Amino acid sequence: MTSRVTARAYANIALCKYWGKLKAEINLPATPSISLALDVLHTDTTVLRIDGNVDQFQIDNKPADESTHKRLAGFLDLWRDKNLIEGCFSIESENHFPTASGLASSASGFAALAMALSGFAKRKLNKMELSRLAREGSGSAARSIPGGLAKLPVGSDPAAIQILPAGEIPWGMVVAIVEGAEKKIGSREGMRLSDQSSPYYKNWLSQAKQDYSSMLAAIKQMDFKRIGVICEANALAMHACMIATRPSLLYWTKTTVDIIHAVSAWRDSGLETFFTIDAGSHVLLLCKTDDLEKVVEEVKSIKGVVLAKVGSPADGAQIIEMS
Ligand code: PMV
Repeated sequence: MTSRVTARAYANIALCKYWGKLKAEINLPATPSISLALDVLHTDTTVLRIDGNVDQFQIDNKPADESTHKRLAGFLDLWRDKNLIEGCFSIESENHFPTASGLASSASGFAALAMALSGFAKRKLNKMELSRLAREGSGSAARSIPGGLAKLPVGSDPAAIQILPAGEIPWGMVVAIVEGAEKKIGSREGMRLSDQSSPYYKNWLSQAKQDYSSMLAAIKQMDFKRIGVICEANALAMHACMIATRPSLLYWTKTTVDIIHAVSAWRDSGLETFFTIDAGSHVLLLCKTDDLEKVVEEVKSIKGVVLAKVGSPADGAQIIEMS
């Protein structure tokens, strides 16, 4: 019988964003999304079978806080309710991120946990089943199961599918961590508020669907410029919907806006890079592999950027140790 499993998963950054749920209980996305998994952001999770009837959770060597504990225990219950696992477990999860910025940690966290739990499952789970399960933990985690360039369509119970493996992706992203960037409202609550009160929510949903189709076509042609243009426009459309939410979900800081302006100036001078921003103030800069070093140096020169790191494409979640 399996007693201990360690799995690794990489965080992913969406080029076409997921923002909005059709059914909150099972994280059914209201928008289709496309993402790139990055090697600079990963989570290692070890799951141990334990006696007794209470699960235990340690995140980054500290006991999980109450709300995280509740969310993770709920995730294990989901697996037990589906009769995939039995008994109780101790979970130790460690995030390997450039800083404790919280950047996309739920994606790599739930993907690593789902992959590790699969080592205890009563039957073999394929990648699509695992992606669906990870999605119920966190919507974006579904895309960290296949990794590389992955798409998560909308549907009654969607799973993410890999479009291109890491080794075939000739681009990367620079992760720019900006100062003073504490997340105020998390994505779960933020999506609920946008749905309830943003006057642009419906427009966002229809634009997101168009962007998804255009992005898939651009990827098929490996048309980097078109991919970048859609990526930026999609992030701005999501943020327009967020900013118009009542109360406003304005995640940007002055430095975020300074980077947005700088990116367009760099492009004018011939450096082809495009930004995207999640539910926070950090900025991700998409560029061709050959330009990554140049972009990271440019970003470091902007006041208010506390850290800038090169991220290369990463593959999907994997079990790295099992006994
Ligand atoms: O998986 P969640 O619930 O953290 O939602 C992710 C939302 C965004 O990061 C803003 C967009 C995305 O598609 O990753």
